[in-house]
Amino acid sequence: MSHDFEATLFDKTFRGSFGDVAFYRRRCRGASSVLELGCGTGRLMLPLAKAGHEVLGIDLDPVVVERGNQKLAELEEQVRSRTSFHLGDMRDFSLGRTVDRILIPYCTFYLLTSDDECLACLERCREHLAPGGQLLLDGFHAWKMRGRQDTIEVPEEQRGDGPIEGRRVQMYASATWDCPKQRYDLRFRYTAELEDGQSETRTEVLRLRYLFQPQIESLLERAGMRAAQWFGGFDERPFDDQSRTIAVVAVAL
Ligand SMILES: C[S@@+](CC[C@H](N)C(=O)[O-])C[C@H]1O[C@@H](n2cnc3c(N)ncnc32)[C@H](O)[C@@H]1O
Repeated sequence: MSHDFEATLFDKTFRGSFGDVAFYRRRCRGASSVLELGCGTGRLMLPLAKAGHEVLGIDLDPVVVERGNQKLAELEEQVRSRTSFHLGDMRDFSLGRTVDRILIPYCTFYLLTSDDECLACLERCREHLAPGGQLLLDGFHAWKMRGRQDTIEVPEEQRGDGPIEGRRVQMYASATWDCPKQRYDLRFRYTAELEDGQSETRTEVLRLRYLFQPQIESLLERAGMRAAQWFGGFDERPFDDQSRTIAVVAVAL
């Protein structure tokens, strides 16, 4: 599969959470500079740049960074000049400057699967926050899994069906919850029809370690930060035990 094809699959798979773009736009108001970690192809970065912020993004995957730069090239010069994609690792980056907001949206923090990795990332965030700056991150809140000691298999179901580069592509997803380990493995299977009627299959696994509020709070504190606000949804409803989303605004201690 070509880079373009892979990047399109990425955009069709990771379409965001309902309301998250508006949430991050609101929470970035008044900020001059914004850094997004695990920025993908710019789903959030580009609306923020269009809203007038200087926006930097870091991502580990060269294919998505390339697609981000392609999307950027289509925008007007003023937006392009304040936006940049960087290939890098959120556990180990150094930009040589500080920013007013750091965002780790859409469960991307859960891709760090140990406390050490989370701390490495949060410590880099702390170093890159300007005075008065804020770190914001969100993920799903797996409250129904709390305290369970079993493993749950979620059977495969179809998630999408549409053309990419003129080929019919079907997307399926299945998952495993490993409750004692707080692990959620999300498996994607894509089938793309070829011209001769055969099909090509590709699979991807997203390995997540989900966190609960006290764990995020403790990691922030260990990295020299504190949670200033918790939300249970992108409409900024208060966080509670049964919220489906957990979003935190953190500041340096
Ligand atoms: C779920 S996608 C989210 C993309 C984007 N933030 C959004 O909200 O649409 C997670 C992204 O994190 C990137 N990623 C995973 N591990 C990373 C790491 N250690 N450092 C930087 N980026 C990483 C992946 O390549 C992917 O683009």
